[in-house]
Amino acid sequence: MARILITSAIPYINGIKHLGNLVGSQLPADLFARYNRARGNEVLFLCATDEHGTPAELAAAKVGKPVADYCAEMHDVQADIARRFGLSFDHFGRSSSDENKALTQHFAGVLAEQGLIAETDEEQVYSNADGRYLPDRYIEGTCPNCGYDKARGDQCENCTKQLDPIDLIEPRSAISGSTDLEVRQTKHLYLRQSQMRAELQAWIDSKTDWPVLTTSIAKKWLNDGDGLQDRGITRDLEWGVPVKRGTEAWPGMEGKVFYVWFDAPIEYIACSQEWVNANKGDDWQRWWRTDAGADDVTYYQFMGKDNVPFHTLSFPSTILGSREPWKLVDYIKSFNFLNYDGGQFSTSQGRGVFMDQALDILPADYWRWWLLSNAPETSDSEFTWERFQDGVNKDLADVLGNFVSRVTKFCRAKFGEEVPKGGSFGPRETQLMADITGRIRTYEQLMAQMEVRKSAAELRSIWALGNEYLQEVAPWTTVKEDPEQAQAQIRLALNLIRIYAVLSAPFIPTAAASMMSGMNTLDFSWPEGVDGDDSAFTALPAGHAFTVPEVLFAKITDDQRKEWAERFAGIRT
Ligand code: 2FM
Ligand code: ZN
Repeated sequence: MARILITSAIPYINGIKHLGNLVGSQLPADLFARYNRARGNEVLFLCATDEHGTPAELAAAKVGKPVADYCAEMHDVQADIARRFGLSFDHFGRSSSDENKALTQHFAGVLAEQGLIAETDEEQVYSNADGRYLPDRYIEGTCPNCGYDKARGDQCENCTKQLDPIDLIEPRSAISGSTDLEVRQTKHLYLRQSQMRAELQAWIDSKTDWPVLTTSIAKKWLNDGDGLQDRGITRDLEWGVPVKRGTEAWPGMEGKVFYVWFDAPIEYIACSQEWVNANKGDDWQRWWRTDAGADDVTYYQFMGKDNVPFHTLSFPSTILGSREPWKLVDYIKSFNFLNYDGGQFSTSQGRGVFMDQALDILPADYWRWWLLSNAPETSDSEFTWERFQDGVNKDLADVLGNFVSRVTKFCRAKFGEEVPKGGSFGPRETQLMADITGRIRTYEQLMAQMEVRKSAAELRSIWALGNEYLQEVAPWTTVKEDPEQAQAQIRLALNLIRIYAVLSAPFIPTAAASMMSGMNTLDFSWPEGVDGDDSAFTALPAGHAFTVPEVLFAKITDDQRKEWAERFAGIRT
């Protein structure tokens, strides 16, 4: 049994996430977690809300709430939506937790001991109109790297370059829009990432099995020269982790907090402490400390491509630079962007479909299937209502749903609601079992490699084999000439429903559960059979009672599609 640690990029607290966010981290991470649990591995799957920094402050100010209250409320909202989407986190933590505060301060302390923190008098943008400093997202302007005109002070969304507010061309305040800005001197802490270059380079070069998207972004910023410049890790903000050196005060840094991108990834670790403190687990160290058993753990991170620089350069600098035995990530699975109907999904502009709205119109499995089977892995991909309708109707309704309904209804009508016992499997059945077994082995490999789209395609082919078989052997015809043979055909088909439920559960857990309850079984055992062991195909024995499940997937009609396309064409405010 392998031990698998999985973290999804932790979503900003500022509002409900859109489907592009979902498919770029949490959903594929959930697919991988569910798959590994199904294979009997020991899994710890963590996520949290990213609560500090300017995104939280700006969003709380917009709705006129104290930022701590706003974060507490939005955490619950996000946790509830995650649950309704079937995201099976072992814990959904908060980066504002006491655990994360202490751990962030701890890392700052040990990094300082290692000589990796510099105290620098630096230039910060001050807004006369707003009467305050404008760190990170409080400032917007044109990206000096690619010319994108809505770049934020901390990062350009368009080209992923990490920025400093003073880098922006034609900067303006994100609070007031004012351009009456000046540069003032103030003291800040810098993480001396540049000292880590050789070590990071060697580490990334050793990761030959990582997705090209991950390594290409990492190498680009590593070799770019200023991609690995020392990064300011403190800010003139009120909301955040107070700057301390371990548990000690840090002279000169009173009233300042750590930069959100310094404490956010540390929350991956702190989240496991929250998990223990919430009495859900009893030992976090065996997941994270290589001196306490974490050497046996394989650690996977999931994220959108804009997060890659922070996870390949900044956070590893924190971990490696501490010279403490923390577990470093083994595999970084990153994603391109999902676009919405010819443009970008955008939280700041309220464009696209947001997770709560998605669940208002259809159950989670419809979305999970379409998003995962169209995951933006090798390039950006596009959500359109036509493509969504087409994918759902063909794959879920016509292929899987139709198979389950035809088999169970036919059996009920001809042989009653139990697995029929007549006849025996012949060459055609042997062939089908071999074909499916072969495809299951491919599916396992693809799932283990986190090839999300290819796994979905393989699963769809496995479903389709069942339909092709039914079409070919036509039990509705056979039953007239040779009812015994028809019984054997249906016995195999009913067993396929259980196998399909087990294989499909990581993608569509709710539908899988109703297939299992229709088949009246708790036998979730994975079809492991090799070399002619077909026991998985007879797990439901003759005489086993079942019921016809409710319709698994309703087709999306043209009227619905048009109505939704219109409803979601606008901007959510
Ligand atoms: O891009 C985002 O949504 C960030 N909140 C991700 C942070 S991931 C990590 F560092 F914790
Ligand atoms: Zn740019």
